[in-house]
Amino acid sequence: MKEDKDARWFELECVPKEYIFPKEDRPQNLDSPVCDSIPVIDLAKSKAANGHNSQPVEEILKASQEFGFFQVINHGIPEKTVTDAMNVLKEFFNMQAKNTTGTVPHTKGYIYTNSTDFAKDGVHLWRENLKHACHPLEECIHLWPDTPTRYQEVIAAYIIEIQKLSSRILEMVCEGLGLKQGYFKDTSEVQLLSSNLYPPCPDPSLTLGILPHYDPSLLTILYQGGSTGLQVMKDGQWVNVGANPNAFVVNIGNQLEIISNRKLKSVKHRVVNNTHETRRSIATFVNPSPDCIIEPAKHLVNKLEPSLYPASQYKDYVLRNKAFGDYTAAIQNALR
Ligand code: OGA
Ligand code: NI
Repeated sequence: MKEDKDARWFELECVPKEYIFPKEDRPQNLDSPVCDSIPVIDLAKSKAANGHNSQPVEEILKASQEFGFFQVINHGIPEKTVTDAMNVLKEFFNMQAKNTTGTVPHTKGYIYTNSTDFAKDGVHLWRENLKHACHPLEECIHLWPDTPTRYQEVIAAYIIEIQKLSSRILEMVCEGLGLKQGYFKDTSEVQLLSSNLYPPCPDPSLTLGILPHYDPSLLTILYQGGSTGLQVMKDGQWVNVGANPNAFVVNIGNQLEIISNRKLKSVKHRVVNNTHETRRSIATFVNPSPDCIIEPAKHLVNKLEPSLYPASQYKDYVLRNKAFGDYTAAIQNALR
């Protein structure tokens, strides 16, 4: 261990015991090849004569059925908006260097947790995390971090772009599922931002960046820069999601699986650590509002395909399923 008192928690030569998962939870097969089969969908592909983007629609539906995950390129979000957001988050995490207490506050605003946050049976995750609400933007922007000083402006610009992209993708999902356009209008706001820093780890075979989980969202849109580490469960195996700095990773959340009556799948995923590389990610969760009632679309339920899920208010779903682990209630309150 280095003696430097100012060193950050991860600047170590070996993994401290508090970060070592029991054997059965540790990542296996870290060398499994990057799976090229998670589809990369080009949103700029030619429009058909009727004005519909038929090719991406079919690709999105197929990927959402088979993998629950896809990546989009030519998405129309300016590169500068994305690099500004990544840079301001990098600065934010750098500024926490000497902050050694990571606690979930019981006040409104943002939640920063460093790796001392409990994960599973007292074992810590190899990551730092920042979460805050994003909707309605004008009501929460002033609750976000104000250092770096550009934070609020830069992240607001990013959220506005993600909102546009998610609406576009959801319109394509409507078309693919045969739901009327605008079906998701009232159930799809970028409600939550969760940004992660996964520092290099001396032995990634012992640690995890995020435990295997499903997203409780409607849709999740993730930017991961050019870094690897995200793994998706496919046919009982973990497969790596390829790194593409020009792409956003999109995954189907539990609410969209419910609304689609399991025509689209919410799939388990996790993050493993890298030895040399720092992974940074911005996850944005497109969610229904807390009071919204979520159930399979009537249009997709019939005698042959009965409803597979009971109706539930979104906020009850989150609490009942402990969507944020042991901290679910505290996080729900803090972000309200
Ligand atoms: C999440 C998630 C992946 C990542 O926040 O739900 O899966 O790369 N994040 O940070
Ligand atoms: Ni996730």
